[in-house]
Amino acid sequence: MAKEPVRVLVTGAAGQIGYALVPMIARGVMLGPDQPVILHMLDIPPAAEALNGVKMELVDAAFPLLKGVVATTDVVEACTGVSIAVMVGGFPRKEGMERKDVMSKNVAIYKSQASALGSYAAANCKVLVVANPANTNALILKEFAPSISEKNITCLTRLDHNRALGQVSERLNVPVSDVKNVIIWGNHSSTQYPDVNHATVKTPAGEKPVRELVANDEWLHGEFITTVQQRGAAIIKARKLSSALSAASSACDHIRDWVLGTPEGCIERKHSLLIFSSVGTLQGTWVSMGVYSDGSYNVPAGLIYSFPVTCCNGVWTIVQGLPIDDLSRKKLDLTAEELTEEKALAYSCLS
Ligand SMILES: NC(=O)c1ccc[n+]([C@@H]2O[C@H](COP(=O)([O-])OP(=O)(O)OC[C@H]3O[C@@H](n4cnc5c(N)ncnc54)[C@H](O)[C@@H]3O)[C@@H](O)[C@H]2O)c1
Repeated sequence: MAKEPVRVLVTGAAGQIGYALVPMIARGVMLGPDQPVILHMLDIPPAAEALNGVKMELVDAAFPLLKGVVATTDVVEACTGVSIAVMVGGFPRKEGMERKDVMSKNVAIYKSQASALGSYAAANCKVLVVANPANTNALILKEFAPSISEKNITCLTRLDHNRALGQVSERLNVPVSDVKNVIIWGNHSSTQYPDVNHATVKTPAGEKPVRELVANDEWLHGEFITTVQQRGAAIIKARKLSSALSAASSACDHIRDWVLGTPEGCIERKHSLLIFSSVGTLQGTWVSMGVYSDGSYNVPAGLIYSFPVTCCNGVWTIVQGLPIDDLSRKKLDLTAEELTEEKALAYSCLS
């Protein structure tokens, strides 16, 4: 029997990530090839005409899974009945603007959109914040949508995770699908910590640690980290526009793994003690997601912080028990400090 359509909200849908993202959702890349969808697209009045153009193109593409399109500048109409909300809309930093001014604009946007989602979205709606500052926008959304469980509010660091996989794959000249378990810790900003200490590569002789195969700590501690941290700026320099197709694709990866599960995500939960008892024999696959910190790995509770997670039955769980060396500890703390400052700045914009 055909499945009931799922309503998926994309805010900022007339923008460049939106333009790459909505056809992916309509093709089943996000929720699977047998899951019909109804797209809800929100943008602001100056972008209403462009938004209508995107709607016309979606109709023209005749996607079999797409059962309806709502294109609107009304936040209540946009949020009504949605089970997935991908928050791409936000206020960009313009030349000459202070950090606090941009924060203040985004705090106002995320506060009002939180209320609309809290009141009108479907029960158990899953929220992914993409717009920057992504972690802090997600935190504001959590604060002002108390009816949405904190387990259902996340931000995107999967793009950084995928960038780290891509760098290892290029360095070792192996398929990216054979590399797994990199971690992005912390903020979606240049203080994030891309960590390969637990990452492995599939080889004919079994899974081998990335660190052993690369055999070059200088590269792993230096260029690898800075390349991932500064990849967004490198794309802007090359394209004169910020990342869009990779951001859209990783947003689909984030929601797909959250809803449909990470590989072996359910088995791992049942046998987590067994699997994590001996480092080097980790069996499962984890991904990086910005989630509400419960204090795991001594990260301050109450921040939206990127952790390694596995997902089963629509629920993410932070991977526990990974050993953290001294260098990593410093980097985990540095990015937490930045998030704590961002949180204080965001709260100062509320008063
Ligand atoms: N987390 C990540 O990995 C990641 C990666 C890339 C980009 N980003 C961020 O994603 C955001 C979108 O990027 P883009 O390249 O699509 O930008 P864009 O400027 O092309 O599009 C943004 C869209 O949001 C709309 N918008 C502005 N205020 C809105 C509001 N209140 N409600 C609804 N829509 C609103 C704009 O009209 C515009 O159409 C930016 O904040 C960018 O920094 C995050």
